Amino acid sequence: MNQRFIPSETSTPFNPWDREALWQAFQNQRQFTRQLVAELSEAVLCAQPHPLYSPVGWHLGHIGYTEAFWLLPESSGVSDRDRYWYAADGRPKAERQHLPPRGQLLDYLAEIRQKTGDRLYSLSDEQWQREVRLWWWILQHEAQHSETMQMVLAMQGIFTTLPPLLSSPQSWQRIAAGSYVIGSEDLLALDNEQPVQSVELLPFMIDAAPLTWREFLTFVEAGGYQRREWWSSSGWEWREAEGITAPFYPVPEDLDLPMWGLSFYEAEAYGHFQGKRLPSEREWEIAAQQGLLNQGYVWEWTQSPFAPYPEFQSYPYRGYSAPYFDGKHFVLKGGSHWTRPILKRPSFRNWYSRTTREVFAGARYVQLEALPIESEA
Ligand code: AVJ
Ligand code: FE
Repeated sequence: MNQRFIPSETSTPFNPWDREALWQAFQNQRQFTRQLVAELSEAVLCAQPHPLYSPVGWHLGHIGYTEAFWLLPESSGVSDRDRYWYAADGRPKAERQHLPPRGQLLDYLAEIRQKTGDRLYSLSDEQWQREVRLWWWILQHEAQHSETMQMVLAMQGIFTTLPPLLSSPQSWQRIAAGSYVIGSEDLLALDNEQPVQSVELLPFMIDAAPLTWREFLTFVEAGGYQRREWWSSSGWEWREAEGITAPFYPVPEDLDLPMWGLSFYEAEAYGHFQGKRLPSEREWEIAAQQGLLNQGYVWEWTQSPFAPYPEFQSYPYRGYSAPYFDGKHFVLKGGSHWTRPILKRPSFRNWYSRTTREVFAGARYVQLEALPIESEA
């Protein structure tokens, strides 16, 4: 039996118009964020194990700063100093290791949260209706940063939890040709998920389960990192330039876990090795809507460049999605074991460049050609 795609395994259904539901979700997420850093040394909190990622402690400041910037009136909001320290376009990444101690960072978060809590319950109904989307956006902003913090920890050898064993054996799921609906316009939908739209699909067959470490290691043992023929030309160029000959993260004891730490290029090369391909983001989303994908453990690369849907409108600021509609970023779907349930929905679109290996990302494949139903034995 396949595990169905459940948008949130741990949270009960809620009404996003209900301020109490928002407040509960804020508190849950904050408890999670605080737990992540509770036992860390100051050295780990300030470390920058990879030049493209900020230290875990910086993420704390950035979460608070962003909440204050969007949810508090200008007067009680943010100072120029906070902006410099914690805005994405503030202090250069290489200088972010200099941080206040954990206690001070947590006080900063708590102080802002106190103010946003007061404000939430003092908003008129009209104000709340105008802002409700923004509040859920801020929640999802913190949720996304809490996964990035876990990536930065993983790069320091600290794994918060290990995912459960992938129990179901590999099998195919067939999706029929037809007209399907993708995207989302509900209150939690981010700018890049909108609008809801109709798409036509050819039939395809997709793996019920994502690629495992055991499977990927057969590629490594077959000389996958040395065999030019399995790589795209830009993928091979990247592999050569970086001298990559092995997966990014250490191999876990349990090889039946889904593969993580894979770049798009490695995922693509494994597909060529197997005579399979990555799904398009639409194919993935439609299969997930139908409950056909056993997933929830790793993000999954698609073959789709991150691009705007028709009539895309930036929200809440242009820089959130639009700068990444550049043909260089590709869509990942699903969410990982380290992703908060609030973000797990078939329409959610994550994106990274094809060379990014630090994400808890693996892959799932589609057969190169779908068999017509009649030819089935
Ligand atoms: C969508 C996860 C790639 O972390 O860079 C957080 C989300 N944007 N703050 C990122 C995001 C601004 C973004 N990802
Ligand atoms: Fe951010």
